[in-house]
Amino acid sequence: MLHAQLEAMYSTPWMSDIVVGTMRWGIWDAKFTTAQYEAMIEKAMSLGMSTFDHADIYGDHTTEAEFGAALKLHPEWRSQMELVTKCGIIRVCDQKPGHYIKAYDFTKSHILQSAEDSLRNLQTDYLDVMLLHRPDLLMDPDEVAEAFEMLYTSGKVRSFGVSNFTPSQVKLLQSTVPVGVHQLEVSVKDVSAFDDGRLDQCTLDGIVPMAWSPLGGGKLPEAVVSALSALAVEFEVKPQAMALAWLLQHPSGILPVVGTTKAENLEAAQAALTIKLDRQQWYTIYQAATGTTLP
Ligand SMILES: NC(=O)c1ccc[n+]([C@@H]2O[C@H](COP(=O)([O-])OP(=O)(O)OC[C@H]3O[C@@H](n4cnc5c(N)ncnc54)[C@H](OP(=O)(O)O)[C@@H]3O)[C@@H](O)[C@H]2O)c1
Repeated sequence: MLHAQLEAMYSTPWMSDIVVGTMRWGIWDAKFTTAQYEAMIEKAMSLGMSTFDHADIYGDHTTEAEFGAALKLHPEWRSQMELVTKCGIIRVCDQKPGHYIKAYDFTKSHILQSAEDSLRNLQTDYLDVMLLHRPDLLMDPDEVAEAFEMLYTSGKVRSFGVSNFTPSQVKLLQSTVPVGVHQLEVSVKDVSAFDDGRLDQCTLDGIVPMAWSPLGGGKLPEAVVSALSALAVEFEVKPQAMALAWLLQHPSGILPVVGTTKAENLEAAQAALTIKLDRQQWYTIYQAATGTTLP
């Protein structure tokens, strides 16, 4: 039952073309007030960016709750947005005094408890997408499937995916549960997903690829910035929009997860949706990114 229902869901788009990342909104970076969370969420939604990317660990387990406090003030928003979150990282931080070393945990009990915590913190009664954040080398795919089945049938989580997996790790999990999303690092700063099989697998298996740090975390090599800037002048957009358009062009259907903390940079990102690069323009950026010419 789980297979048929999830596969039907994954065959139609259920997230926005540009996803809004919240990792930098809380105590790890911008330290937004509730009013600033409200303003960014509202701005993103006004631009059609309805999907918000979280993880239980952001802000050392505090960012989801800060976002949830803003969401609570606007209950009408929930049905107009999609909430993605991630679980599976054991992080050493003040909020988790029992954690003494970094570890990964995909046990059934950990996944179920993480879902409950995220639901409570985000002040919602369902999550649109739950991702396994980084591969747990001790993963038992049957155990993960049991947890996902319970979360799905209870209506608490509507779809599932992974992050930072290798293609064979994805395949292993697919043996017990349909994988709808793979959130991976791909950008002008890290092009490895284009030819190491991860994006090919997404295309083959109908997995939605989400690109984390699509602007390389905001720090790009000079040669890349210069190639992006030259094309940006031609298209009359900001260089950042070129970098996102370059990802959006890939046939696997990459959804960039933008990490900005500024409303105006959300607008700059949205301009990427209007750009179509030809092959030579695309490869100009690719060659600037790799620092080599094509054979
Ligand atoms: N699955 C994973 O393992 C994983 C890992 C890392 C991140 N993530 C997700 O990916 C999201 C994005 O990651 P990221 O924050 O590293 O992404 P990013 O978009 O590559 O980098 C964000 C940085 O770029 C700057 N920036 C963005 N747009 C800009 C623009 N138009 N002009 C100038 N500067 C701009 C931002 O500064 P301003 O704030 O000043 O705009 C910010 O410092 C995170 O929020 C998180 O949701 C997932």
